[in-house]
Parts: sequence; C-alpha cells; structure tokens
Amino acid sequence: MAMALTLSSSVVLFLCILAVRSDLDDIVLEQQSSESQSTDCGCQGLKRDVTVDVRDENKLEHHDDANIYSKTANEGPHETERDIRSKLVLLQGGWFMMGTDDPGIPQDGEGPQRRVRLDPFYIEEHEVTNQQFQHFTNQTGYITEAERFGDSFVFEGLLSEEVKSTLSSAVAAAPWWSPVKGADWRHPEGPDSTIEHRMNHPVLHVSWSDAQAYCHWAERRLPTEAEWELACRGGLQDRCVCVMSFPANGFGLYDMVGNAWEWTADWWNVHHTTEDKYNPKGPETGTDRVKKGGSYMCHKSYCYRYRCAARSQNTPDSSASNLGFRCTADAEP
Ligand SMILES: *[C@@H]1O[C@H](CO)[C@@H](O)[C@H](O)[C@H]1NC(C)=O
Repeated sequence: MAMALTLSSSVVLFLCILAVRSDLDDIVLEQQSSESQSTDCGCQGLKRDVTVDVRDENKLEHHDDANIYSKTANEGPHETERDIRSKLVLLQGGWFMMGTDDPGIPQDGEGPQRRVRLDPFYIEEHEVTNQQFQHFTNQTGYITEAERFGDSFVFEGLLSEEVKSTLSSAVAAAPWWSPVKGADWRHPEGPDSTIEHRMNHPVLHVSWSDAQAYCHWAERRLPTEAEWELACRGGLQDRCVCVMSFPANGFGLYDMVGNAWEWTADWWNVHHTTEDKYNPKGPETGTDRVKKGGSYMCHKSYCYRYRCAARSQNTPDSSASNLGFRCTADAEP
C-alpha cells in the first residue's frame, strides 16, 4: 500500500515544487551554513517546557531495551491485533556503509562514513497508519502526549484561518511552526481538522514515547538508527533517494524517505568514529531521539535531508505534523 502525501495544501505543494527544482539543479551546499544557523528545518527547536511520563499515566509497561521482542515478530498472541499490524519485510542485515563523508549539514552528525554490521531483522513495510494507531488506542485506551499536553506543532501553512487567528505564540527559532492547541493525531491541523478520510495515511503528532508504546503493544520495537538506514538504502550504497519517490525501494519498503520523519530508538549524538560497529544502538543516554527520513515538508534544506544518511532530532515528548514512525522486530538468527 503506497502512502499518499498526508496533506495536499497548496502551500506545501508550492514549497515542494520549489524544493524539487532546487534539488534537480544540484544540491547546492553553499547556503547550508546560513540555513543551519537558523535551525534550517525548523524541526529541531520543537521542545516542550514540561514533561509528563506517559507510560506511567497510561499504565503501560515500559522497556527501554529495544531487543525484548524477538520471536514473537510474526505471531502476536492477540488475533485482532495481529490482523491490523503492518506486514514485516525480512532484511538480511550484513555489512553496509552508514552515514556519509560528504554531509550537507555537518552539525547533523551524518559523518564520518563507517562500516556497520547488523543481524537480520524485520521492518514494517510502511509507516504506522491512523487506522492502526486507532486500533491500538481503542484496545488500550492509550492517550498520546500531544493529547495530554493539549497541543502539538503544526506547520503554519496548513492551518485554517480560524485556527491561525487563535495563535498567540510561534516558535521563535522556526516561525513557520506553531504549537496549536487541540492539534493531535486525530486532529492533525488543529481542532477543526479530522483524519476521517485519511485512515491509511501515516499517524502524525506521535511522540517518541507514543511510538514506543505502539510498537511495544504490537510486540515489536522501534528500529535502531542503523537498522533504519540499512532499510532505507534498499540495497543501494551511499546513494541519494530522489525526492518524492513513492514506489517501494529495493527492499519492498515504502516511503522510507520523504513522507514523514520517522522516530528511531537511538539517543541523538553527532560524534561518530570510523570504527567498525556491530548492531550499534546509539549512546546510552541523551536528551533527544534520532528521527530519520525527511518529511513532506520541503524546502531546500529539508529536501537535502531526503537521503538515507540524513538525520535530525527531537525531544522524546515532542510531536509534530510531519513526524511518524514504523516498527521493527528481531529475526531468528
Ligand atoms: C475504534 O473505536 C471507534 C469507536 O467505537 C470505532 O468507530 C472505530 O472504527 C474503531 N477503530 C478501529 C481501527 O478499530
């Protein structure tokens, strides 16, 4: 099932067309330094002031260890739950080159390129959809962080005039993003919006903790950054993926790049070495989690991130209208 673009606002479309064009012209890096200083993609400044522990409040068990669900990957105990989960694609793992020596946005920590070896693993063929997420919340009564906090970040171009008129504050570092009261996964552009006609679109406005909770419920887990990147490459080494390439990649995976950003399990860190790594899981601790894949929000710097090595970060409790996820599972060796 190919995911449609989540939102078809003419503003976004316009930005995308511009971005596609600049990408075709060549990826020009000279502007990166000025763009990066103004938090270029506008998605890194999205942080909440206060935190709540969603897991406690939702009374869900929490396991930070990404490797607890191995053999149950394709045999969940709950008939109905199993039915709604995404199909898994088995990837053989092995050695691949992670990151790039030619990073467009050096402070994103894409480099240096390093050899990484992964065990075989499963990954969901597409991002978790509204339908799937609704099934999860119906079954568990789970309440997302955006619903709990009462707001989430929405790109201003997507807001109705009515919602815009109620905005009191914008994010200083990224004025095109606004925290919108009542925006959550059921109301992606604010209270007057609905997901009714986009049940098979990626669920958005889910925090890292929300994504973790879904994958846990599905007896799966979030991918490590390395797994995500290997899956994204689809058998290609160090290769740019074209903007808006909707057909499945060489591994039969959809929209790894360019639909919504996707959460990974890893803590954010920009310092990497050239040392070979085996099943890397990122740093032990951190403040932000890694997201991968770019999003439908296009602008030159965003679209430069339409590459498998591209990465960005958010605090685990933040959510936005361009951020979703997919789950993975261990494969039997
Ligand atoms: C969730 O529950 C609502 C209300 O009962 C229902 O309309 C909806 O179809 C359910 N969604 C799924 C995916 O089961």
